[in-house]
Amino acid sequence: MKRRFVLSTLLVAQGVVAASSFFASPLVSPPLGGFRDCVMSLSERHPPPLDRRGLLLLGTAALVLPSQPPPASASDIQQALNQARMEKALATRRLERFGRGETRLSEPVRREIEDFVMEDTWRAPTLVRLAFHSSGTYDKKSGTGGSQKGTIHYDRELNQADNKGLKNVVKALDKIKSNHDISRADLYTLAGVHAIEMMGGPVVPWRWGRVDATAPRETIKEGRLPQPDMGDTPKTAAHIRQVFERMGFNDQEMVALIGAHTAGECKKDNSGYEGPWTPTEVRFDNLYYTFLRKWKYKRDNRLTGRGGKMQFEVEGMNDDFMMLPADIVFRDDPKFRVYVDAYAEDEALWFRDFSAAFQKLTELGTRDLKEDSVVAPS
Ligand code: HEM
Repeated sequence: MKRRFVLSTLLVAQGVVAASSFFASPLVSPPLGGFRDCVMSLSERHPPPLDRRGLLLLGTAALVLPSQPPPASASDIQQALNQARMEKALATRRLERFGRGETRLSEPVRREIEDFVMEDTWRAPTLVRLAFHSSGTYDKKSGTGGSQKGTIHYDRELNQADNKGLKNVVKALDKIKSNHDISRADLYTLAGVHAIEMMGGPVVPWRWGRVDATAPRETIKEGRLPQPDMGDTPKTAAHIRQVFERMGFNDQEMVALIGAHTAGECKKDNSGYEGPWTPTEVRFDNLYYTFLRKWKYKRDNRLTGRGGKMQFEVEGMNDDFMMLPADIVFRDDPKFRVYVDAYAEDEALWFRDFSAAFQKLTELGTRDLKEDSVVAPS
């Protein structure tokens, strides 16, 4: 009922948001403030329960629909917008597959992942991070780590500092696992690729057959995932290349993968960093590259000394869009920069390259995987 009501107020809310962007537009305000407000009007961050925009939305909803109870908060409205967008993205993909006469064996599991994400759409980026962390431990020389064994659920690995913030989604996926004949290792990667599809990103081919570890001793020791800051840009660049080359990736693939930071946000309690990279937190678009290329970032020390770390903020914009020192490397290293520019200009190109790189990532260390999609004989 609450959800139906929220959906019924969407048109009103969208009208209000459009109107507030207009009044904040450079046409009617000074250029910098105008841009900032425009960006914020697009923002999909969890708004605080009753921020200024929330009050505006609620006030308008109450005026237009006096007989209806007001929604709990502006974040309910944003959540409903996210749900509507996700439902549309899923329907479009289903129609495409239907046209090809294609069925996916993983469909029942995907439906449960959808239910889990639809309850709180901001979970989608966290599932992508989980897929990365459960695969990105791979070492091509020794053949250890990777997505093959699904070891991230063991406390030894889950409690590592790099994995802070992933416990809740791992526990929730445990419940989904208990309803299906699927390994954890398969589920963690499937949840990531399906979340990307839900956020309107590319379809990432997914194959199954990973075999779970049977004991915690098979977990990988801490220290294989990339660190956000090694002190300065050249050192951080060298570190990123060393980590991703160990997995078997080249420069172009590294840049394609880091574009996943277009979705989600950093939380101080998890990583010591805070804020989203872009205003479209649960949308998979190439805005990360556009921001990196277009805006000037400067060091932001507001969190240092308050349990947080040095990050970058957009110069002249009094907002909390941020970049990690590691993200800034992709802007400043000339070899990485070529691809940042290309992906900023061509989202379809990024989708294609991201899909290939993410499939490769989620198949690191695996053997004998089986196809998920089946085409019905015509
Ligand atoms: C240089 C490499 C990378 C570094 C240093 C890095 C670092 C980080 C950090 C510090 C966070 C914030 C975590 C938190 O506070 O909760 C984060 C979040 C995230 N990372 Fe990365 N990351 C890297 C590469 C990647 C890759 C390759 C992917 C996927 C392909 C990815 C996907 C994500 C996503 C989706 C989030 C948001 C999670 C959420 O909203 O809960 N990252 N990353």
